Amino acid sequence: MTFEFDVITLFPEMFDCITKYGVTGRAEKNNLYNLHTWDPRDFTKDTRRTVDDRPFGGGPGMVMLAQPLEKCVTAAKIRQEKCGVSDTRVVYLTPQGRTLDHKLVKEFSRLSGLILISGRYEGLDERLIKQQVQDEVSIGDYVLSGGELPVMVLIDCIARQIPGVLGDPESASQDSFVDELLDCPHYTRPESYLGNVVPNVLLSGDHDKIRRWRLQQSLGRTWLRRPDLLKSKIEQGITIEEKELLEEFKIAYGANKNKVN
Ligand code: ADE
Repeated sequence: MTFEFDVITLFPEMFDCITKYGVTGRAEKNNLYNLHTWDPRDFTKDTRRTVDDRPFGGGPGMVMLAQPLEKCVTAAKIRQEKCGVSDTRVVYLTPQGRTLDHKLVKEFSRLSGLILISGRYEGLDERLIKQQVQDEVSIGDYVLSGGELPVMVLIDCIARQIPGVLGDPESASQDSFVDELLDCPHYTRPESYLGNVVPNVLLSGDHDKIRRWRLQQSLGRTWLRRPDLLKSKIEQGITIEEKELLEEFKIAYGANKNKVN
């Protein structure tokens, strides 16, 4: 079944970025997902096509009106139902939401459709959120000028999980974070670049040795760069092999550090 995205946005053209280029562009062309946009301005009745107003209580900026957004959500739900989606969720991208991570991407990718709301200005009237939104999601602790880029980030992450989207079926399963670990380093030709050579093991042709080296690099990088991730991996259960590889990495890292200093 094709994954159905319905996106509510004041800037539908921005979504050409994902539907026209690269992996997500090819996937859309191949009908692995559909993306339909809804512009709240098309659901207004006044000649100025008003979609925002001043905040009650005063203060800077404007707030998006609930009614045009509600009409968009209703239209999107009808479209999803027509496409056979029975498990859709309405998601609002906002810095106030739950931070997006691989676990949440997997959770969303098990559905068959999503309705995604991109906010502008100071945000949406809270009553629309209360009545229509099931999940509020943030892509990180910083503020963007609108929800379009966060919606595209989310669509890209989910699209990568759809079978057939990535050329190599193993690519998604080897991404960073899949196993609570960062990805290992990658190398391609030439074997020597500006005096730096490719690690010997990668040229050995010994598949098990290469697998162990990659796993060790992933563990080591996660230990160095994201101790929070490693802690959660250890809590979930680390294998004896992983434990040994990590210990070996730590010893080699310590020895190298002493050599440099
Ligand atoms: N809108 C503006 N900033 C955002 C963020 N960091 N995450 C999600 N939506 C946003």
